[in-house]
Amino acid sequence: MIFCLLRILRTPRAGGMPLPAAGGRARWATRAGLILAMAGNAIGLGNFLRFPAKAAANGGGAFLIPYFCALLLLGIPLMWVEWTMGRHGGRHGHGSTPGMFSLMWKHPVSKYLGALGIILPFSVAVFYCFIESWTLGYACFSGAGTYFGQETREAMGAFLRGYQGVEANAHFASVLPAVLFLAAALSINYLFLRRGIAGGIEVLARWAMPLLFVFALVLVVRVLTLGAPDPAQPDNSVLAGLGFMWNPDFSRLSSAQVWLVAAGQIFFTLSLGQGMINTYASYLAEDQDVTLNGLTTSLANEFAEVILGATIAIPAAVAFFGLAQTQEIARQGAFDLGFVSMPVIFQKLPLGQLFGAMWFLLLFFAGVTSSVAMLQPVIAFLQDELGWSRPRAVNSVFLALLLCVAPVVAFFRHGFLDELDFWAGTLGLALFAVIEIVVFSWVFGARRGFEEMHRGAELHVPGIFRFIMQYVTPLYLIAILGAWIVQDAAGRLLMEGEEPARRPYLWGARVLLLIISAAVLWLVRLAWRRRAARAEA
Ligand code: ALA
Repeated sequence: MIFCLLRILRTPRAGGMPLPAAGGRARWATRAGLILAMAGNAIGLGNFLRFPAKAAANGGGAFLIPYFCALLLLGIPLMWVEWTMGRHGGRHGHGSTPGMFSLMWKHPVSKYLGALGIILPFSVAVFYCFIESWTLGYACFSGAGTYFGQETREAMGAFLRGYQGVEANAHFASVLPAVLFLAAALSINYLFLRRGIAGGIEVLARWAMPLLFVFALVLVVRVLTLGAPDPAQPDNSVLAGLGFMWNPDFSRLSSAQVWLVAAGQIFFTLSLGQGMINTYASYLAEDQDVTLNGLTTSLANEFAEVILGATIAIPAAVAFFGLAQTQEIARQGAFDLGFVSMPVIFQKLPLGQLFGAMWFLLLFFAGVTSSVAMLQPVIAFLQDELGWSRPRAVNSVFLALLLCVAPVVAFFRHGFLDELDFWAGTLGLALFAVIEIVVFSWVFGARRGFEEMHRGAELHVPGIFRFIMQYVTPLYLIAILGAWIVQDAAGRLLMEGEEPARRPYLWGARVLLLIISAAVLWLVRLAWRRRAARAEA
């Protein structure tokens, strides 16, 4: 990463300040802003909550082996593919994947396949914004000391359930506070998106990303100086926590599940397979570098995830709760780690209110810079393909978002959010990534794709990556998708083991996904009909 940053700092022109936009298309104002926005796109709740929980529940250090294999063979190649597709699309006035696909594959179906790059990020945003709003709420609760006094995991668990509206209890009589924080989080997203690419998203990233790194570094130092906080339990130490994160348990590597989880984490954390990177890259200048910038984005994300994300929550949990309980916490998932265990820990620290506020603000900055990136593809589509003004596009998207978020809040306790997460946030990403790599490497052509990628490149990508993009990445992806379908999707589709009472809500989540998909497909059809009519006139 240091190498990439030095290269970027040493090369002021190429890929530096972009040339003025052709045809009035928006552009990133500065290279630093572009890198921060792309890093903000990738670095999200996945880095600080999802990664530590997944790693701890799947073999600790051993998880990093399939994780780094997926990074090298899937993550980095796909990152370059999405940057290249995005810049290519932007050059022809397409900021979303229906247009990008139809440029690379002249077939009527390509634009509909590309529609997944709008459907998926919007569907993920529908539940992601809700979780993001909890971080804003908890930042305020930490600063005000609202939950201080709830010193056990049981008590903080009740606090979280009350806030989420899972149960009415002594902490929260209704879900109203959560709704108010959701409104605040959505308003912040709205304000920055409304102001556009350079004036909104880039400005947000310029403020939020440095603050995120400062808060993360402060928390890392605080965790590393925890030692063994309870002298009666010398085994519960931060060193034991780091050992757990980094010592590999090789026996876990024979489990296919661990490889699947690692690949899923790579997609999610790098924002791949969702059209989000493509859209941001469409605002590059024509010959602006994609290889060095794409690699820098990946490495910045990995630094935030593997170095910072892995050093905060899990080592702190081991220091305070011990190894066995931490494994149990990780199995419960990311929410337990972030919103239950961490607040208990903050209550045991001097200046805990301050550290708590920093932790949740860090999560909020990570979340908001990713959620604007999830909403930008559909906004770009409405602007580029239907010719809507930005205010009209942003207003319409937020109206649709409000309608879709409402059932997520209302039915959260019935598993509505988890169902959306599985289909859109896990399976959907792998499916779209397969389509994308096949279109890029086999339809557009790996040689042509590699040449396009190297236009204006500041970093020469070794030829072996052309082979990887053509053969290894697609086969790896198809194997993962196949394994998911066999292992998880069939049972999930049939709702095996689900309580009968929850089934109508899970069906509701699927119907919502179908409605979002149908609406986007209809808009794509409309846009192309209008285009054909204009061409005939
Ligand atoms: N890449 C974003 C995250 O990790 C979506 O949360």
